[in-house]
Amino acid sequence: MAALTYVCPSCGGNLEVEYDWAVAGAALTRERLASDGDRTMWRYAPLLPTAGRLEGPPVGWTPLVEAPRLARSLGLARVLIKDEGRNPSASLKDRASAVALQRAREIGAELVTCASTGNAAGATAVLAAAAGLKALIFVPKATSRAKLAQMLTFGADVLAVEGSYDQAFDLCLEATRRYGWYNRNTGFNPYTREGKKTAAFEIAEQLGFVAPDLVVVPVGDGNILSGVWKGFVELRRLGLLDRVPRLLAVQAAGSAAVVEAFHGDGTLRPASGETIADGIAVSFPRDGEAALRALKASRGFGVKVSDEQILAAIPAQARASGVFGEPAAAAALAGLSEAARLGIVQGSWTAVLINTGNGLKDVASAMKVAGEPRVIGPEVASLEKLFGAERGAG
Ligand SMILES: Cc1ncc(COP(=O)(O)O)c(C=O)c1O
Repeated sequence: MAALTYVCPSCGGNLEVEYDWAVAGAALTRERLASDGDRTMWRYAPLLPTAGRLEGPPVGWTPLVEAPRLARSLGLARVLIKDEGRNPSASLKDRASAVALQRAREIGAELVTCASTGNAAGATAVLAAAAGLKALIFVPKATSRAKLAQMLTFGADVLAVEGSYDQAFDLCLEATRRYGWYNRNTGFNPYTREGKKTAAFEIAEQLGFVAPDLVVVPVGDGNILSGVWKGFVELRRLGLLDRVPRLLAVQAAGSAAVVEAFHGDGTLRPASGETIADGIAVSFPRDGEAALRALKASRGFGVKVSDEQILAAIPAQARASGVFGEPAAAAALAGLSEAARLGIVQGSWTAVLINTGNGLKDVASAMKVAGEPRVIGPEVASLEKLFGAERGAG
């Protein structure tokens, strides 16, 4: 495999994929999309950077779930949840891994390596297994058991790094340099943003090509944020949207480099990276510059939320909408509630929350707030003790 260029050779910054807009515009029209039976992210192939589509379980076209009770409680016209937990590995990261792995196949790479807080690794493991590629994963040792179980079950070679996600990331980069493996690291590999932008394409299409007023994104490395923004901007460029939404970036208080820079002097500085929401536990965001540009360009907002707010949002979202999020995903609702409290959202708005990962990925966190079951004996008497004597029919 030839040496690959991932970042700008002169400044070291992340690269951005450009398209031939005339060609993409002719291929992607409302009419063509309406008649396209492909209910996966690959329906947007003219705006994806690979020649072909990755074989394996279908990624994308996840439901946009109406949440009227959340809308009422937040004082908004409409709230919808883009449930990315329905992807094959149960997170939005499948979108990024699908594009990166297809690229790996097209250049003849056999081994894909990836550093991850857990979900990018799970996505890489699942899709690599289906596509017949090898996956070598670097995760922090503290990664949740469910996420580890997924990577290992799908046959990935998993290295549990005694350190943080940021340290795992750097080690993975060094491995790539030394051994020439194909690297799927978030942000560093420009194709991760390309996959993630398809979530925006779907939100727009599912709303009949009318942009919502606000899209709420939990932010770690900032790559979902920059990807979602790129998606909306590309649709506007092709004339498929008249306007683009504002973005609300939500970060955990201990891991808020992007929000701090947005409210401060625009300079990204490392945070402690400590939060219960492992998916957004990042010290230095690897796509932070692009995330900041996206936030500014969208005339967006940034909020920080505590771990308590994040945990409380898990059952709040589940009970009001039927959508189960892991802590990093539930951070979106925590952030929207915080934004409502701060008065930075308007009552006429339609907001879309991105539920970036399924709650079953981190049951230990959910159990911290869900409560415990009531234990009863197997006899009818224990039922009667709880509920009293039989009520009779009717
Ligand atoms: C569930 C979940 N939500 C949000 C994020 C944040 O995405 P990004 O790092 O692109 O900002 C991640 C990243 O791992 C994640 O796993």
